Amino acid sequence: MNEEALVSATELLTMEKEMCSYKSEVLPVDSTTNVSSRGKAALSPSLPYIKSFYKCLDNPVHPVKNPSGYIALCVAESKLDCKKVLAERLSRPSVGKQVFLDDDAYNYGDFRGLFKVRQVIAQFLEEFFLKKSASSDGIIDPNHICIGSGASSVLGHLFYALAERRDAVLIPAPYYNAFENDMKQIAGCVPIPVYMKDCTLGPTVEELEEAALQAEQQGLTVKILLITNPNNPLGVIYRPDTVLHAIEWARKRKMHSIVDELYALSIHD
Ligand SMILES: Cc1ncc(COP(=O)(O)O)c(C=O)c1O
Repeated sequence: MNEEALVSATELLTMEKEMCSYKSEVLPVDSTTNVSSRGKAALSPSLPYIKSFYKCLDNPVHPVKNPSGYIALCVAESKLDCKKVLAERLSRPSVGKQVFLDDDAYNYGDFRGLFKVRQVIAQFLEEFFLKKSASSDGIIDPNHICIGSGASSVLGHLFYALAERRDAVLIPAPYYNAFENDMKQIAGCVPIPVYMKDCTLGPTVEELEEAALQAEQQGLTVKILLITNPNNPLGVIYRPDTVLHAIEWARKRKMHSIVDELYALSIHD
């Protein structure tokens, strides 16, 4: 058995141990099943909160009909009234025609996503993230945009493409718990929390360096810095120079930076 196979076997055993407390209640895995060890690991979600989440789905709270039901605080879900906004917009005759009669949408095309959609995303990013006016657009090249389905799946692809198995990913703590699943499950990366003096301000270069050195002392190669801005679970937005310094630090170390901005432009009221 080579070293990599040994490492994966150990990792799988640890994952099995972590999961066994709720595995049978979530997705029973037949011990005689013929799927691979990777398949078995995937059948047993390693999210520590999944059991509680399903419990909430089974018994959701309702102020009148079910006041003793549960509210799922373990997931950060945007409760926009999508039906009102999306259904109304998609059923407008002009939009419906544009979306459903576009030949490009039905056939193989550019695997980064439809060019027209990437163009609109580029304009959106320029307007809302770079605060550029329509006249000064063209800064973000749509060819530098790839579209994926869901943040977890995009993150999974990035970890897989940017790191080797057993490479470390630094994440300022506290962080969204499922990141661990996203990086372990397929890419086999190792999460390393970055502890901070004041986690509401984001990581300093010194704190990042300390976490990286500790990971290296464990024999790991530190390959990726993962920042969430706005932060889940804290809800804080880091100052631009905090993010910039962190990315500059990562670049100097020849690391990749991933910035998850899932909650950008969210408004809490
Ligand atoms: C910071 C962050 N990234 C990624 C995700 C996962 O997003 P998706 O449901 O699109 O996979 C979540 C979900 O709560 C999140 O909070």
